[in-house]
Amino acid sequence: MKDLKNYIETNRERFLNELFELLRIPSISSKEAHKEDMIKAAEWVKDKLAADGAENAEVLSTNGHPVVYADKMVDPSLPTVLVYGHYDVQPVEPLELWKSKPFEPEIRDGKIWARGADDDKGQMYMHFKAFEYLNSTNQLPCNIKFMIEGEEEIGSPSLGAFCEANKEKLKCDVILVSDTAMIAKDFPSITTGLRGLSYVEVKVKGPKRDLHSGLFGGAVANPINILCDMISSLTDEKNRITVKGFYDDVLEIPENERKEMAKAPFNLEEYKKELDIEEVYGEEGYTTLERVGIRPSLDVNGIWGGHTEKGAKTVLPSEAHAKISMRLVPNQDSKKITELFGKHFKAIAPKSVKVDVEFLHGGEGYVAPSDTVEFQAASKAFEETFGQKAIPVKSGGSIPIIALFEKALGVKSILMGFGLESDAIHSPNENYPLDNFFKGIETIPYFYKHYTEMKGK
Ligand code: BES
Ligand code: MN
Ligand code: MN
Repeated sequence: MKDLKNYIETNRERFLNELFELLRIPSISSKEAHKEDMIKAAEWVKDKLAADGAENAEVLSTNGHPVVYADKMVDPSLPTVLVYGHYDVQPVEPLELWKSKPFEPEIRDGKIWARGADDDKGQMYMHFKAFEYLNSTNQLPCNIKFMIEGEEEIGSPSLGAFCEANKEKLKCDVILVSDTAMIAKDFPSITTGLRGLSYVEVKVKGPKRDLHSGLFGGAVANPINILCDMISSLTDEKNRITVKGFYDDVLEIPENERKEMAKAPFNLEEYKKELDIEEVYGEEGYTTLERVGIRPSLDVNGIWGGHTEKGAKTVLPSEAHAKISMRLVPNQDSKKITELFGKHFKAIAPKSVKVDVEFLHGGEGYVAPSDTVEFQAASKAFEETFGQKAIPVKSGGSIPIIALFEKALGVKSILMGFGLESDAIHSPNENYPLDNFFKGIETIPYFYKHYTEMKGK
């Protein structure tokens, strides 16, 4: 790659300034109040792709937030890589825990601090700059398409229909994504597994109004007490999920794959230290990497009801609420799990309360083989810049569109993530090391080169 390092060095400041413009747009997809910001971010992405040399850049409307598309077709006989990323971000609360404001990006300690710095604005932007370099130096080895969405953080609800309706436009040989993490610093990783997701909100309703906890306490079911009982019964003493039928479709991973996973450079002591916990916790019989990579899980994401303001109020509340996410492994179906959960949750409720279960969003898991051209090409690309082969990693996170792509377009994805576990995505103080950002820009062009060479043979 001619002058690649030099190109990055010369344009360092500009790359960061551009990314900061995007980071300043509070494109929180889950909040109605940010609808305008979503459009602003989409327009910004479209303009940048055009400025970087892509053609046909457009903002396409969907049933939800818009999708940005652009391409550069150099020769129809060459392979086509579709780059996927998302311009939406997660909410930022609690604000008081941020050391600098989430939408006022800052560089401290060699890292970019902002919501979206890693997930996924920073990682997505590496692709724009890698493309800018290849295009402006006339070195594009293959055709490139971009599809950047704005609903990833809410489960990509409009994208199934969008892919079905735009099959021709999205036609490609492989999908390239940087929206995952490396297993450890300096250990390039290719994600070969993602978990699926079923996300529900539950409501437990007791008496028709809040009651005096003295006059009624002990005689009427307290929905918060009941909800807590119900939630705690969702896992057993082995930390297995008790929802009837939950494990029916879970595939046990063969022993040799578990042995492979155990070789990953994962340090449990450092993991505990980084999270400031004395001990890890999870399903009996599985390691930490297995618990997130190949086993399902169930977590309460939020729980509320009753009196939560300062001071005491003696009240027996009328309602209790919780948001619950279930991470699923490939072969579990998120719709089926949501149904099983709904049935189970209603069945375990005592007669003294009424229960409502609402499905918020979900998506399917994904498995990628490691014996493919794209895996080899990605691994070679990493070798060029990290001096080391990539490690296949099963991640606990979810990217619902990846399974949709496979279903609608019949195309596999290659997940070359440059994030770190310490980047605090979805948390206060999200950050992205400058090293990872620039290393990403340097690595991506090699993927196109090796992929085109290997695919052509
Ligand atoms: N980029 C993440 C997923 C991820 C992060 C995968 C790190 C692997 C390693 C993505 O933006 C994300 O957060 N997805 C959501 C999906 C959900 C809201 C449907 C998730 O996993 O919670
Ligand atoms: Mn992401
Ligand atoms: Mn995310």
